[in-house]
Amino acid sequence: MNTLQQRIRQIARERKAVILAHYYTTAEVQDVADFVGDSLALAQKAAQTDAEVIVMCGVHFMAETCKILCPEKTVLIPDPAAGCSLADSCPGEAFGRFVKEHPGYKVISYVNTSALTKAYTDVVVTSSNARQIVDSFPASEKIIFGPDRNLGSYINAVTGRNMLLWDGACHVHERFSVAEILKLKAAHPKAEVLAHPECKGAVLKMADVVGSTAKLLRYAVEGDGQEFIVATESGILHEMQKQAPGKNFIPVPPETSEGHTCACNECQYMRLNSLQKILDCLQHNAPQIDVPADVAQRAAVPIRRMLEISEKLGL
Ligand code: 13P
Ligand code: SF4
Repeated sequence: MNTLQQRIRQIARERKAVILAHYYTTAEVQDVADFVGDSLALAQKAAQTDAEVIVMCGVHFMAETCKILCPEKTVLIPDPAAGCSLADSCPGEAFGRFVKEHPGYKVISYVNTSALTKAYTDVVVTSSNARQIVDSFPASEKIIFGPDRNLGSYINAVTGRNMLLWDGACHVHERFSVAEILKLKAAHPKAEVLAHPECKGAVLKMADVVGSTAKLLRYAVEGDGQEFIVATESGILHEMQKQAPGKNFIPVPPETSEGHTCACNECQYMRLNSLQKILDCLQHNAPQIDVPADVAQRAAVPIRRMLEISEKLGL
C-alpha cells in the first residue's frame, strides 16, 4: 500500500467507515477498498454492514442505493459528478409517465437508474439476477423492462418473453467493436469471449459467456480456459489478473479506436474515484448522498424485493 492508501485505511478505521468499490474503478481504488464487487454484491454489502459510514466508490446511483437501504448511515461519494449514462438515459419523470401509460404492466428496472425511476418500479434487478427475477414472474405477465435495451433484449431472447423495453443504453458497453473482436479471435484462436449483457446484440452473439462482472470473473478464474477476450469495462481486468495471474486477459477496444487513442472501454464516471478524493471525503465528511424521504421510501420497496428474491435464489 502506498502512503495515501495507508492514510485512507487509518481514517476509515477511525471513522468506522466501510469502503465499497465497483470492479470498474481504478486498480489503486479497488486495492484500498474493504470490499470490491458487482452491483448486486455492493447493494448486499451495504444492506448488511454495521459500519457507521459508507464510502461508495462507484457511481451516483450506487451511492443512492446505499442511502436508500441505510437511511440512518452517512453515505459518502468521493466525486458526486460520477454519474451513469445508462441511468441518465431514463429520466424518472419520463419513466413515470411511460409506466402510467401502460396500466396492468409489472415494472422491472435495472439497478442502473435514479432513485426516482426506482420509485416507479415493482422490482429492481442487476445483471447478476435479471434473468432469474424475470423468470419468477408468470409467463403471461405483461412486463416493462428499463432502461437498458441491450440487457432487456438479451433477457427477452433467453426467456422467450416479450417485455416492453425502455430505449436506454450504456455508452461504454454499446461501443465494443465486433470487428475488433473478430481480429482478436483470429489472433487468439483458443481465447473465449466474455461479454457483459449491456453490450449490443451483435457482440453478445459472439460471446462464449454472457454475464455480470462477478459472473465473468468467476468463470475466468474457476474454469480451465487460459485466455479470454473481455467485452466489459476494462477495470475488471485488475481483479481477473489478481485472482488468475497465470491467465491472459485481453480487453476489447471500442469502435472508435482505429487510428485514435480513445479509452472508451473505460467508464469515465467510475474513473472519477481517486485516492485523494476518497481521503478528502472521509476527512471532510462530504460530499454526502441524500435522497428525498418520499422518493427513498418508494424506491426502497423494489430494491428490498430484489434482495429478498436474490437471497431465496441463493444469489
Ligand atoms: P454489474 O456490476 O452488475 O456487472 O453491472 C455493470 C455496470 O455497468 C455497473 O454500472
Ligand atoms: Fe453506467 Fe456504463 Fe459506467 Fe456502468 S459502465 S456506470 S452502466 S456508464
